[in-house]
Amino acid sequence: MQLFKYLQAQGLGSRKECLWLIENGCIAINGEVRAQARDTISPDEVKTLEVDGKSFTVIPLPYFYILLNKPTGYETSHKPQHYPSIFSLFPANMRNIDMQAVGRLDADTTGVLLITNDGRFNHKQTSPKHKVPKVYRVTLKHPADETLCNQLKQGVLLHDENETIAAADAVLESPHILILTITEGKYHQVKRMIAAAGNRVEYLHRSHFGEWHIENIPEGGWKFIDM
Ligand code: URA
Repeated sequence: MQLFKYLQAQGLGSRKECLWLIENGCIAINGEVRAQARDTISPDEVKTLEVDGKSFTVIPLPYFYILLNKPTGYETSHKPQHYPSIFSLFPANMRNIDMQAVGRLDADTTGVLLITNDGRFNHKQTSPKHKVPKVYRVTLKHPADETLCNQLKQGVLLHDENETIAAADAVLESPHILILTITEGKYHQVKRMIAAAGNRVEYLHRSHFGEWHIENIPEGGWKFIDM
């Protein structure tokens, strides 16, 4: 891949801007100044990228996968309406890159959110056909017992839907803490399921999405993951 195209793919600007940066000696890759715009770059070999001595996040190419521990108070949208966008949690160059969240979490939900530029991966993870398990730690408003778990596992009728929907698993950790596994990703699904079962979600955290979990990423933190 030619250097100027590589820099464009790193979100460093337009073709013209990237050519200017290279020709003016502003770009260093792996600590070495690179002034030839058409030099060939192997994305896998790039460990560090500096512009005018300032380090930039190196985005894996052509596809990247991010595991974000979503904090509360952020919208899963490129055009947020009430809160900042989750994409504002990333460095400036990454905000110029086309990437999408794999499903959505509500503004007040925390936990595992995958983000990628790989549309096929995204589709596979979100398609109901693939039944990817999502595990939520639900804080309930009213104390619950096994009746709630049984109701959720047998299936509940959501408002505005005509078929019941069942949890893949539901286990009470304590009267107010439910560990709920679902394999679909309908709009507000957990909150609507809990409401349909006569309780209410006070706080919602997604601990697992498929094989991925938060590990020890702090809230608001993220990392690139391998696929
Ligand atoms: N279900 C919800 O109700 N909200 C979320 O954020 C995720 C699943």
